[in-house]
Order: sequence, then C-alpha cells, then structure tokens
Amino acid sequence: MPNSYPPLQAPRRFLFGPGPSPVSPRVYQAMAQPVVGHLDPFFFEVTEQVRSLLGYVYSTRNEFNLAMSGTGSAGMEAAVASFAEPGAKFVLLTNGFFGDRIGEMARRQGANVVRLAKQWGEPFDPQEARDFIRRERPRVVAFVQAETSTGMFNQAKPICEAAHEVEALTIGDCVTSLGGMPVMVDENGIDIAYSCTQKGLGCPPGLAPMTVSPRALERLRARTALVHSWYLDLLLLDTYFSGHRYHHTASATMFYALREGLAMVAEEGLENRWERHRRNHLAFVAGIEAMGLEMHVANASDRLWTLNTPRVPKGVDDARVRQYLLERDIEIAGGFGPLAGQVFRIGLMGYGSTSEDVLFILGALEDALRHQGYAPAGDARAAAEKTLNAAV
Ligand SMILES: Cc1ncc(COP(=O)(O)O)c(C=O)c1O
Repeated sequence: MPNSYPPLQAPRRFLFGPGPSPVSPRVYQAMAQPVVGHLDPFFFEVTEQVRSLLGYVYSTRNEFNLAMSGTGSAGMEAAVASFAEPGAKFVLLTNGFFGDRIGEMARRQGANVVRLAKQWGEPFDPQEARDFIRRERPRVVAFVQAETSTGMFNQAKPICEAAHEVEALTIGDCVTSLGGMPVMVDENGIDIAYSCTQKGLGCPPGLAPMTVSPRALERLRARTALVHSWYLDLLLLDTYFSGHRYHHTASATMFYALREGLAMVAEEGLENRWERHRRNHLAFVAGIEAMGLEMHVANASDRLWTLNTPRVPKGVDDARVRQYLLERDIEIAGGFGPLAGQVFRIGLMGYGSTSEDVLFILGALEDALRHQGYAPAGDARAAAEKTLNAAV
C-alpha cells in the first residue's frame, strides 16, 4: 500500500450520452455546502423547497412530491412496489428497454403483467392502446414517456384517459423527459410519475424525484396487503418527509444538488427550457440529416428533444466511433438489445443543451465518421447553424 494518495482528480469528460448529463457549476457549488443531519430543520427546509419545485417542474398540483434516495430505477421500483398488487392485473405498454424493466419489476411483485408491446422505437397507436386497456381492465397501467433506449416520446394522454375510464392508476416513467420536455402530469393524467436527477435537471445521479396524485394516494392508503418493500414504501417515506420522523439517512448533499437544479429550472422558466431543448434538438437533427444520416424514430413529432438516436450509417462500426470520441474525452452511447450497433444515442439535456453543444458534438461526430471512412453528404454544422438562426 502506498502511504500517500494525491487528491482524486477525475477526468473532465464532455457528457453527450443518455445521462449523466453535464452538472452545472451552480449545482457543484451547492454540493460543497456543509452536510447537515437528515432530521435537521434546515434539511427539511430544503426538502420542502424540493416538494414545491417538483410541483412546478412536473406541472402538477399534487402535494405528494418527494425525492427518493437512489437513482431513477429506485423511483421506478417505488412506484411499482407501492401500486402493483400480487395477482392484480398490471398493463404494461412497452416499446423499449425501460418499459420492459417496469414489467420485470411488476412480475417480481407478483402482479399479473399483461403487455402491449411494440418494436423498439415503434409508436403506440392511440386507439389500439385504448382498446387494449378497455379490454384488460387492469388496476394499473404503466408506460415510459421518454424511452431512452430508442429516443421515442410516447404520448401519455390517450393511455391515461383510457386507464381512468376503467379506474386504473397510471405510472409514467419521466426519467428522460423531466426538465427537458413537457411532462405535464396533471394535464396528461399521470398518477405516479418518477424521474432522475442526472438528465434534464443537470445534477449528478442519486435521487429519484416523484409525484403521486391524490387518487393514487387514496388507493395506497386503502391497501390491505403490506407493500413488499420496506425501503420503497411511499407511505413510509411520507412519514419521513412530511412527518419528519426517521426513515433513513438521506443525503443532504444530493438534496442540495436537486434543490439547486430545480431552482435553475424555475428561474429559466419551464416553457423556455422546453423551447431551448426543442430548438437544439432540431438543429442537431438538421446537422445529422445534412451529413446523410437518418434518425431512428421516423416521425419527427415522436422524437425526444433530450436524447437523439441517429442511425449508424452502413459500413461504420459504432463501437469504433464511440472509442474515437472517448479518446477525445467525449462520451456518447450506442444502441443495445435489438438496436445494438444500429444507433448512436446522443444526449443534449439540462445544462448540456446549448447551441455550442450542438455544434461541438456535430463537429466531433463528423470527424469520427470521416475517420471510419464515411464521407458526409453535406456540412452538418452549417445546417445546424441555419436551423438555430431560423429559430431565433
Ligand atoms: C427511461 C428510463 N427509465 C429508467 C431509467 C433508470 O434510471 P437509473 O439508471 O437512474 O436507475 C433510465 C436510465 O437511463 C431511463 O432512461
């Protein structure tokens, strides 16, 4: 063992993957504040600010807004563990990896999972989804609003409307939409929404912000069987965040980060923030198409603004492209499952969605593709700049 260790020095990567996204300096600064105890009055002041700011970013009047310790998957599992009941019907609409993960969690809870599945990146036909839900009459309907494995935005409203007609609750995964695209919990009718800190909110991973509707809380309070998971039981968590009684030792540092990330969303204004993401996404797509590449999600209105999935051009090895970029400290991701080797997954989210980011990553990608022998059809950055200027 050496007897001295120089202070840790992490490399500074350009984060253009599906998350984590770049952390804003203001969030880093907040994280350097002194740690207080998990029952300290100041800690609860912060959690109350987080509660009200979450109401704003989720566009909801719900009061049950909290941040779970853990990543987005903890939010997913808290939603599923609290609302999937053993033996009860649980409808899952899935067209990607994260939809399938919800199904696996519900199966482990003993729910009777019934799936309406589409190819990865294929949209749901709203009528088909409605008919399926009406026919199955489940207790819960779950879906992913922003499917990070494919770059697809699934429309929540028709799903939630059909679910409510049959008195089912809706669980919506908003991990890649919150802070970057309209989640609109109340308007869409999402009863239980969860997300993460490391994408649209510009914080490191570590908390799962959630919101729960009064209707869902009523169901939870009426539940006779115990929620199988102690840590993820939302009512127990509420005794902590509302009742201020010890549940677990939540990280003050992560709450500072989230408070700061959410405050930045509020100061920017939610609509302005969505518009920023939309504009940068459109510019990125213009650049991609100028190079002669195609987007995996065919219909422009089904695409995520936060996470772009251009298809890997014929003859190009995506792993080599990613390696080339990583050697230059730039992180993007590839596809997996049925999309392995077929798409790049390139994030422009939160603090990392600016016009400079768009131009930088297009230039880097063009360079990497050329290095793999691909000759771009046109000038990506010029096309992106044109779109950016037109949008102003
Ligand atoms: C749509 C979606 N759901 C859930 C998760 C899981 O989140 P985490 O990796 O933070 O646990 C992710 C992660 O990227 C995601 O993109």
